[in-house]
This record gives sequence, structure tokens and C-alpha cells, in this order.
Amino acid sequence: MTATSQTVEAFDLVIFGGTGDLALRKLLPAMFHRFVDGQLPATSRIIGIAREALDDDGYRSQLRTSLADAGDAAKLDTFLQQVFYRSLDARKDEGWSDFATLIGEYADHVRVFYLSTSPELFVDICGRLGNYKLNEGKSRVVLEKPIGRDLDSANQINDAVGKVFDESQTFRIDHYLGKETVQNLLALRFGNALFEPLWNNAHIDHVQITVAETLGTGNRSAYYDRSGALRDMVQNHILQLLCMVAMEPPSSLAPDAVRDEKLKVLHSLKPIDDSNAAQLSVRGQYRAGVAEGAKVPGYLDELGNQKSGTETFVALKAEIANWRWAGVPFYLRTGKRLPDRVSEIVVAFKPVPHSIFDASAGTLAQNRLVLRLQPDEGVKLWLTIKHPGPGGLRLRHVPLDMSFAEAFGVSQPDAYERLLLDVVRGNPTLFMRRDEVEAAWHWAGPILAAWSASGEAPRPYSAGSWGPSAAVALIERDGRTWNEDSE
Ligand code: BG6
Repeated sequence: MTATSQTVEAFDLVIFGGTGDLALRKLLPAMFHRFVDGQLPATSRIIGIAREALDDDGYRSQLRTSLADAGDAAKLDTFLQQVFYRSLDARKDEGWSDFATLIGEYADHVRVFYLSTSPELFVDICGRLGNYKLNEGKSRVVLEKPIGRDLDSANQINDAVGKVFDESQTFRIDHYLGKETVQNLLALRFGNALFEPLWNNAHIDHVQITVAETLGTGNRSAYYDRSGALRDMVQNHILQLLCMVAMEPPSSLAPDAVRDEKLKVLHSLKPIDDSNAAQLSVRGQYRAGVAEGAKVPGYLDELGNQKSGTETFVALKAEIANWRWAGVPFYLRTGKRLPDRVSEIVVAFKPVPHSIFDASAGTLAQNRLVLRLQPDEGVKLWLTIKHPGPGGLRLRHVPLDMSFAEAFGVSQPDAYERLLLDVVRGNPTLFMRRDEVEAAWHWAGPILAAWSASGEAPRPYSAGSWGPSAAVALIERDGRTWNEDSE
């Protein structure tokens, strides 16, 4: 089966931070893939912006290297003809007038301004886009995370951006929402009659969300050290996943219908603060160890600062105080330098109320629905069956396994491919509304404050392990275990 793609209006995608890691690793490859699939209208342009003094050719030759393995090499040169570069400083006026003229060449294009820079520059960039009236017509701005580092700074950014772009033009991206499995969660929950009647505290025992990475912080250490795992992963990606699992059925897939439901979940999260952070949260920091078969240094050595108290791992027990979820823990964990790269959501159902089987049949296990975001995107539903053949009634726990790549023979587009084209189409369903970002900070802020008030350093864990032992204790205290499939 081949993937089907829909055409989009001609557009200009302007990437501020055009020479940065995200642009080179994700945004430009995403556009190249869409080009190879024939989805880029011929007059569309991609314009990289950074301070570096480069011209179009200089930028293109940088991209020739970074896109060398991104796909159909024969088409790369043709694609690069649609790519341009301008050197601009967000804090200086020089060059902006020429840039506005360049954009004005195609007045009918959708204009997407992607701010893939440090958030401190968002205000200056938007201010200048406004001064040159580039916010008019079919203009949209994409804000890459992190949006601020707490509620106050997020508000400042949102206020300043809001003076130039209205909410309908503002796309706050969380690339986890563009992942295939997350979309599939919508289809699974709301396209099947099977799950929704069970999707509540009468039938679900608990939920686990794990986003584990094998990589360390590497050359992003300086950024990462100001952020840490809670700000980098939990406040956005993991909370968004939690919302998709926990939200009430929206009335439709209209952007605000979905986002209204997600917001209610965020508002219903029970606070974790000074009074309970010690019981409900664990933070860790990796030390030297062995990851993917090689010896790797610890976080502090990578950073070159032995005093950093930034967490590279976090595990939390969250609860949603509403009728559907009261009493159902959501165990969340994420970390760098863990043994496997795996992101998954595990919905563990309650055990059967009474067993009719003899001990000789084996033990009954809980049904689990495992949604794997990466790698091997797919869904597994763990069921209990009889071991086939003679030998008495022996129970086995086996997965009904659907790997999307195998089942459909289609390669999955990267999340950024889908989301960038959604911006061009003007569809914000998979983007965060301002009030969602604020509600997420409202919940995350007291956790950060409690950690800082405790004065305790993050717990050390060896690179290549599943985090500090306290993270195991966090769930085992409740008589549960982290999903073994991912361990
Ligand atoms: C980013 C974080 O948002 O997501 C990174 O800043 C993290 O620290 C990345 O590595 C993970 O994304 P993915 O798609 O590789 O799981």
C-alpha cells in the first residue's frame, strides 16, 4: 500500500534558527520528504534565517551534507532550488527590509514563520515581523518549545506574540502530537466501540507513560542544563500524551473541541508540591556507565560543571481528580541514557474479579493495551489464552500485535512532516492553545519549586540503567511494576 498525500496551497516556510540543530535534523528533512512525495507546490520556498553570514549557495551546500542521507539523493539538487537563506539578527534592523521585500514577492503565499530559536528571541522576532507587516494576510507563526521556563515567562512570551499574531495564527508545536501512534489513539478510542466503555476507573487499574532515550545530552548540554527533564519532556510531550489518553470524547475533531477536552484534563491534575513531592516524584542524573555497548561519561562531565543539579530523569505518580479517573494513577517517566529508546503508553486493566482456574493453569495477568510510539510503532493488546494443544488447560499471556509498518507496508512520516503541513493548511488541532501551555506550567511549577526548596540533589543512576532505584520503588510501593516489555 502506498501513502496518499494531499496537496497544499503554495507557501513560504521561514525558519528562524535555520542553521540550528532542529532545522537541520528535523525541519529541512521533513520538507525534503514532502518534496520527494510531490507535495511541495512548485513556487513554495523555504527560507533559512540565522545570524551567520551565508548566501543561498552557502546554505545549500550545508544542507547538501546534512540531507545526504535523508532520502532520494537524486532529487536533492532540485529540492535545494526551492531553498534560500537570509542573514538576520532578531535584535538589529539591518536586512529586515530586504527580507520583507523577498516575502512580498509572493503576496498570495501562505507564510509560515517557524521560530526555532531560543525563546528569549521570540519577542524580538515577532516585533519585527509586525513592524514590517509580515503578520498580515495568510501568515502564521510556529513557536517551538520550550515556551518559557515557568508560568510567568510563558505568559510574557504569549502576551508579546499575541500583540502581533492572533491566537488563530499561532501554532505552538509539540511534535509528539504529530506521531502516528498518538493520532491512532484517537482512532482507537473513538473509532471502536470496544474500548470506551472500559476506559475509566471501574476497569482501568493504572496507566504508564514512558519516554526513554539512550542518548545523553551531548552538544545540547548547555541548553539542557537550564531546562532538565521536567521542563524538556514532561511539561509538554508527556502531559500531551496523558491528555490524549485521559480526555473525554470531544464532540468532533474541530481544533477547539479537542483542545477544550485536553484543557479540562490539565485542570484536573492533582497538585504535586512541597507537601507530597517526596512521595510522588523522583528525579535522577546519569553518571558514567555503558550505553549501547560503549562506555559513556556522566552528565556532569559532559557538561563540564560538577555542580549542576539538573535532572536528566524524572518519574512521577500523577492523578487526575475527576469522575472518570479518580483513584487511577498515571505513572510517568522519562530520561536520558536509559537502556533502550522506547516511548510507549501502557493502559493496564483491572484483574478479573474471581479466578475459576486451578493453580496448575498458571497465573492470570492483567490485560494491557500497549501503544508504542517508537520504535516499531504499533499497538499490542495483551490477552490471556489457553496454550494450544494437549497438556491440560494452561494459561498464556500473549499479545494481539499490530505493527503499523508491517500491517500497512507504509513508512511512517516524521511527526514534523505532518505538523508543518497542518500549519500550512491552517489546522491547529494538533497544536497547543495558549491556555493549555499555561495550565501545564501551572501544574509543573510547584513540582520544580518543591525540588528546589528541598535542596536535595537528583539521585545518581548509571548510564544504561533504568534510572534511580527510587523510580522502581515509586511504582512497586503500590504493588505494580513498570511494563516489562520495555525493560
Ligand atoms: C525534544 C527534547 O523535544 O524531544 C529532546 O527537547 C528529546 O531532549 C526529543 O530528545 C525527543 O524526541 P523524539 O521524537 O526523538 O522522541
